[in-house]
Amino acid sequence: MDYKQAKAIDEQYIIGTYKRQPLLLVKGKGAQVWDSTGKKYLDFFSGLAVNNLGNSHPAVVKAIKLQVGTIMHTSNIYLTEPMLGVAKILGEYFGGKAFFCNSGAEANEAAIKLARRWGSKNGGKYEIITMYNSFHGRTVTTITATGQLKYQKGFEPLTPGFKYGQFNDLGSIQKLVTKKTCAIMVEAIQGEGGVNIGEISFIKGLQEICDDNNILLIFDEVQTGIGRTGKMFAYEHYDVKPDIMTLAKALGGGLPIGVMMATNEFARFFEPGNHASTFGGNPVTCAAAKAVLDTIKKDKLLANASAMGELLLEKLTDFETKYSFVKDVRGKGVMIGIELEIEGAKIVEMAREEGLLLNCTADKVIRLLPPLTITSKEVNACVKILDRIFGQVKRSIK
Ligand SMILES: Cc1ncc(COP(=O)(O)O)c(C=O)c1O
Repeated sequence: MDYKQAKAIDEQYIIGTYKRQPLLLVKGKGAQVWDSTGKKYLDFFSGLAVNNLGNSHPAVVKAIKLQVGTIMHTSNIYLTEPMLGVAKILGEYFGGKAFFCNSGAEANEAAIKLARRWGSKNGGKYEIITMYNSFHGRTVTTITATGQLKYQKGFEPLTPGFKYGQFNDLGSIQKLVTKKTCAIMVEAIQGEGGVNIGEISFIKGLQEICDDNNILLIFDEVQTGIGRTGKMFAYEHYDVKPDIMTLAKALGGGLPIGVMMATNEFARFFEPGNHASTFGGNPVTCAAAKAVLDTIKKDKLLANASAMGELLLEKLTDFETKYSFVKDVRGKGVMIGIELEIEGAKIVEMAREEGLLLNCTADKVIRLLPPLTITSKEVNACVKILDRIFGQVKRSIK
């Protein structure tokens, strides 16, 4: 099938919720993908922060193949070893228990439900404070949690009980706290919101507000988790400990999985019948997740992500002085944003033509999300392409 045929089928048979890039991708290996014409691309998009081990990592492929031929689905009425394996690793790391589901939005729904369940038994608390520019998913409740009007418009009435504060402005959060507040929910680095990095004083301050007012602290680590920022979870950069953490994206190595982690103190507020998911904890996705977690440890990928992230950041920071339309370069680990004075869509298009996949978020922020396995050679290749493109943009602006 060629791209033209693919586009025709897409237009005829798939609901148009996506503004797609004009490519039919057919193969991926490590930090490279190929389209239907055989053209190769350097993948600094990673399927939207999912392929943290690169495309089709051999350990993940092997685990999936083995599990598919062993037992594929059982439902949560029965136990399976892959689910137990993932729960044990995450539980020991985080210090608590897991609820398994299939996506980031579902993990956040579970977190919101658990916080409210706890709140209902602790003075009838139900209000949840989230941040402007956050992103927590696309269900009605998670678009409500998402502090961006553009995702909510036309889907009203929204779920009651949500309030929004300014990210990195503790005073604005403090003002929203009432006796009814059960949780504060935050991304340590806002991904969709523009790669906005939480300041240490802000994140620590949130923990203090929560401690002082008997409020649960929820970290949405759907995008930042599983090594993306150079630590296993982004909260580790801040010396804080959330009561609840949500994961999805990279955990399954390319297969759909979501997890809500809660400390033992709060996990017990979910009892049989309170929450469920037919596919949650599926043996195949959990076998993939176990391979992801084992490989990150075995191959010391957190150290590589930190080192390569620093290299990328150092090289891209030069762009701030070299190109007047570059406003700011920021990031942690391999989650990097280049904030522009101009719209970023054209740069994404030019990069694609030059064989580099990346994305633009919040209209003006070019977001780089290479795999944790990225090499210095690949970092240099990416910077070289971007430098060339930015040079062309500079000339076109003059
Ligand atoms: C921080 C964050 N939370 C939640 C989600 C929603 O995850 P999903 O698309 O798997 O439902 C996303 C997706 O981009 C995200 O970045």
